[in-house]
Amino acid sequence: MAEKTITSAPRNPSRGFFAREHWRSHGALRLVRRYTPFWMRRVLRSPYLIGLDGLDLVLGRRKELVPPRYLNYAGFGGFTEAGQEFLKYFKDLCGLQPDHRVLDIGCGIGRMAVPLTSYLTTGSYEGLDIVPSGIRWCQQNITRKFPRFRFQVTNVYNKQYNPSGKCQPADYQLPFADQEFDLVFLSSVFTHMLPPDLEHYIAEISRVLRPGGRCLFTFFLLDDEARRGLASGTSALKFDYELAGCWTTDPVTPETAVAYDERNIAPLLQRNSLFLDGIHPGAWSGRSAYLSYQDIVIGTKASAIKH
Ligand SMILES: C[S@@+](CC[C@H](N)C(=O)[O-])C[C@H]1O[C@@H](n2cnc3c(N)ncnc32)[C@H](O)[C@@H]1O
Repeated sequence: MAEKTITSAPRNPSRGFFAREHWRSHGALRLVRRYTPFWMRRVLRSPYLIGLDGLDLVLGRRKELVPPRYLNYAGFGGFTEAGQEFLKYFKDLCGLQPDHRVLDIGCGIGRMAVPLTSYLTTGSYEGLDIVPSGIRWCQQNITRKFPRFRFQVTNVYNKQYNPSGKCQPADYQLPFADQEFDLVFLSSVFTHMLPPDLEHYIAEISRVLRPGGRCLFTFFLLDDEARRGLASGTSALKFDYELAGCWTTDPVTPETAVAYDERNIAPLLQRNSLFLDGIHPGAWSGRSAYLSYQDIVIGTKASAIKH
């Protein structure tokens, strides 16, 4: 599938993400982040973010359906832009229609859900996450206004996001019926999950997708060009640590950022009755032609009847 250059799309936030992640991943800040747990970084940042939220309120800059900064633990900056960017991919790459039923796994604080509220006019949306505060905000602000958009929290373990989670991701069953959804997507979630958990989630996603339904996942994928970016230091992230079946930037909390070999994606999907429609490389690896910040994988659920 063709790559696209985004020079003519000024609202695409990939360049901004690249610059921010590059700055955070190189030098001393990387070590500070490694030895300060995610929840502690959130607490330490809170007074500053609450100050900015207060300023937004005073200056009348607070927008409806945009969470306050101090609550937004998932995807700083570009909340609105990233949502709009992905709505375009759901329509253009996955054929999303206004009457479709959609599942957003690892929905965070509703970044992808908000723009869908104006597109899914007769369809419906389910959001699922392991962090209660984000789900609470979505229920109070999105479901209240759009009852066809529902959110639920699940107590699944993730060393970065939910270290006290009771259920291992590889044992988790999605609380939905077989073949219920037209589209299932995970944006910036498999980039925080380890191999056995990834394999299990893909099987579960395939189970809940209708035949012919589409899925969209973002990843950090290592192909020749990404490896060149890593070797030359021009990638935003440094996947220096190899684990069984993946690479991570952080040996203390591997879920901080996880990369996979690009060659394993088609077989992974195929084992689970999903066909790979295309991989769209992202800006994170330092390449000049890209679609988004992370790599985007599109798949289709095999039809029940094989021809
Ligand atoms: C970087 S955030 C992205 C949030 C959202 N998808 C977005 O794009 O705004 C990663 C999200 O994945 C969620 N997550 C991590 N592991 C998960 C799991 N095993 N099941 C469901 N969600 C998970 C985290 O709680 C967090 O909200």
